[in-house]
Amino acid sequence: MKLSVIGTGYVGLVSGVCLAHLGHEVQCVDIDAAKVDRINGGECPIHEDGLPELMNGVLGTRFSATTDLGEAVQNSEMTLIAVGTPFGEERIDLGQIESAARAIGEQLATKDSYHVVAVKSTVVPGTTETVVLPILEEASGKKAGADFGVGMNPEFLREGVAVPDFLNPDRIVVGGIDERTVDVMSQLYSIFTETDVVRTTPSTAEMIKYTANSLLATLISFSNEIGNLSAAVGVDVTEVMEGVHLDHRFSPILEDGTRVRPSSLTYLEAGCGFGGSCFPKDVMALEAHARAAGVPAPILAGALEINALQPGLFVAPVIDALEPGASVTVLGAAFKPNTDDVRESPTLRIVPALVDAGFKVTLHDPIALDNARSELAQHMNADDLEYQADLDASLKSAAAIVVVTSWDAYRTLPDMVANMQPQPLVADGRRMFEPGKFARYVGVGRPLAKS
Ligand code: UDX
Repeated sequence: MKLSVIGTGYVGLVSGVCLAHLGHEVQCVDIDAAKVDRINGGECPIHEDGLPELMNGVLGTRFSATTDLGEAVQNSEMTLIAVGTPFGEERIDLGQIESAARAIGEQLATKDSYHVVAVKSTVVPGTTETVVLPILEEASGKKAGADFGVGMNPEFLREGVAVPDFLNPDRIVVGGIDERTVDVMSQLYSIFTETDVVRTTPSTAEMIKYTANSLLATLISFSNEIGNLSAAVGVDVTEVMEGVHLDHRFSPILEDGTRVRPSSLTYLEAGCGFGGSCFPKDVMALEAHARAAGVPAPILAGALEINALQPGLFVAPVIDALEPGASVTVLGAAFKPNTDDVRESPTLRIVPALVDAGFKVTLHDPIALDNARSELAQHMNADDLEYQADLDASLKSAAAIVVVTSWDAYRTLPDMVANMQPQPLVADGRRMFEPGKFARYVGVGRPLAKS
């Protein structure tokens, strides 16, 4: 299929490159000319495992980037909208979606053949049919359903493993205003013959995406609440969740009696809070949407509230244990390992809290320090701490070590700390370590050591 993708951000670029890899002819469009040049020069503008290789495999044959939206739409049968949908002051900001829809609509005005426009960005339920569709009709002077199709096709990609997630989907959701639209959207994924395809309406597709992310985020916040409670009653949340996880609804028992056991307790791992570009923004948008619709949504509000509290609750024992002026090393700025993305990372709350408490803070991350410095500038004077890319050097003379991101490089921390004098307090925000590995240890969801 001939496809145009509007937006070369994380979603647009991963989708465009993967769809070209699967055999489609793809043109990605961006208003940022420098970014378009980088892509066409073979340089991948985002950090995502496997993406540069895949991109260079199709560049110049089935894949290219352009700033010319008109040409890309005219030369394709289908357009995916993959622009940003940030959370504004009080609700999701649809500005980029609206201007993309207008520009596409202006092209449809002079296009003779049937075209499908599908929203890939995460948008609140109703957006495709009540915002995008009317703009397309108005700008094109044509009728949706008769002259063009309109649909919604959410992505379910985790950062860091977005390429394998795209190429091995667990489900495909295609929502369209009519059968014809859904048929065209399904063709895009026809190579996945074994994958479940949900054929539905645009609003249902939008709601599936929000519900999926809100459920995962709520499970994390629930686990964090139970973790805090477990610590307070003197038990370890890991054991609690392992017991809970053996419920056959989480770990199904197959007919031959064996159990399906995911390697980790998926989204039931207590920690120092969730971050990233999806969970916080999506739960906020859905909660705001519920409020605007007059529908009570205390669970969504609660998931956000716990997530806002969790970083502070996690570092409180460190702040209590040390004298002001002490050196504290924070390990990890990325919101999870294997990415340089620091958006909404718990580190952005933990570092300012430690600096405010009067500590000398050193921040380490293998790849995300530059991003951390610019994000921290929105929360505090970003130069009030030291940024250290060398792990050994970052630990020097630390009175406390606060582990926020579960990078593999931190797994040898017990050895690195073993000879430090005096022994630092290790605060483990991801329960990476056995408590007995350190002389002084506090871990999220773990009982405080008896002294
Ligand atoms: C998520 C969804 O997984 C994906 O399907 C969706 O399309 C986009 O949002 P992503 O934001 O890349 O993907 O990250 P994910 O790996 O799901 O982790 C999100 C956050 O939750 C991280 O900060 C992680 O540390 C935290 N987390 C995850 C927990 O604290 N506990 C858990 O049990 C799982």
